[in-house]
Amino acid sequence: MAKTIGIIAIKGGVGKTTISAALATDLANHYQKKVLLVDTNYSAPNLGLHMDILEPDKTIHHVLDKKVHAKSAVHEKFGVDVIPGEYVYNKNIPYLKLKDRLAPLKKDYDFIILDSSPSLNDEMLSTMLASDALFVVTTPDYPTLSCTIKAAKLAKQRGKPIAGIIINKIRDPKYELTIREIEDSVDIPVIARIPDDKHAIRSLFSRIPLPLYKKSSPLSQEINRLNAALTRNKEKKSFFQSLMPFDFRRERVNRELLKEDFYSNTFKS
Ligand SMILES: Nc1ncnc2c1ncn2[C@@H]1O[C@H](COP(=O)(O)OP(=O)(O)OP(=O)(O)O)[C@@H](O)[C@H]1O
Ligand SMILES: [Mg+2]
Repeated sequence: MAKTIGIIAIKGGVGKTTISAALATDLANHYQKKVLLVDTNYSAPNLGLHMDILEPDKTIHHVLDKKVHAKSAVHEKFGVDVIPGEYVYNKNIPYLKLKDRLAPLKKDYDFIILDSSPSLNDEMLSTMLASDALFVVTTPDYPTLSCTIKAAKLAKQRGKPIAGIIINKIRDPKYELTIREIEDSVDIPVIARIPDDKHAIRSLFSRIPLPLYKKSSPLSQEINRLNAALTRNKEKKSFFQSLMPFDFRRERVNRELLKEDFYSNTFKS
């Protein structure tokens, strides 16, 4: 039975789609998992641009609108099954039916990754309700942190507390929020720290997700470590890390806790 993970943020451009595509392709190609990746950013879908699906004939919009079954909207790309979005769909569709529409596919996958909309409305709620676990993406600055606090509150109200924070686009730590400041404000563990990665824009330009475009890039490596926790594997260590007998970096310790907690609590059903 698939574990459904929603990647959310109440802020545009923080890296939700980049990270969703990276998580999915890495799970499929480096951990041999069966993965479904769904564009749930209904009004501004662009997962197709990251996954090289440019003019899909069947999309999540058709699935929600009951024009097609979820299975027939699947496009196979980079080892991942993808349900992309429709750029222009001139009809109101029931976003909150997402969980029901994806239900028949749950048995076919190990993971379902939902790339959320940043809009604080039914679009994001649809991702929240369809997910077993939520990860919130933030950048280490005050404006984004305030959005992250809001997202955490909303998720809690909906009975879907956020399982972890992914800090993305770390540029100049001296002038940015620290991991502890972020954790203390939101009361959620940081499970990944991703630096600003010059390969992100290159991979988007080439329409090849980062773990396949450049496996050794900082983003790909951190995503691979996070996926080790999700798949209950050991993290691969760099040469320098392997020289240290203990690694007490906070996000690493948090991933170890996530590994245990995930299957016993988050995915207990
Ligand atoms: N770690 C990173 N380093 C550098 N650039 C990044 C990083 N992560 C993402 N980007 C770039 O940031 C831009 C926005 O990323 P992305 O589309 O994934 O954000 P998003 O949160 O999904 O946006 P939206 O809310 O519009 O859906 C893209 O150009 C992407 O290549
Ligand atoms: Mg996006």
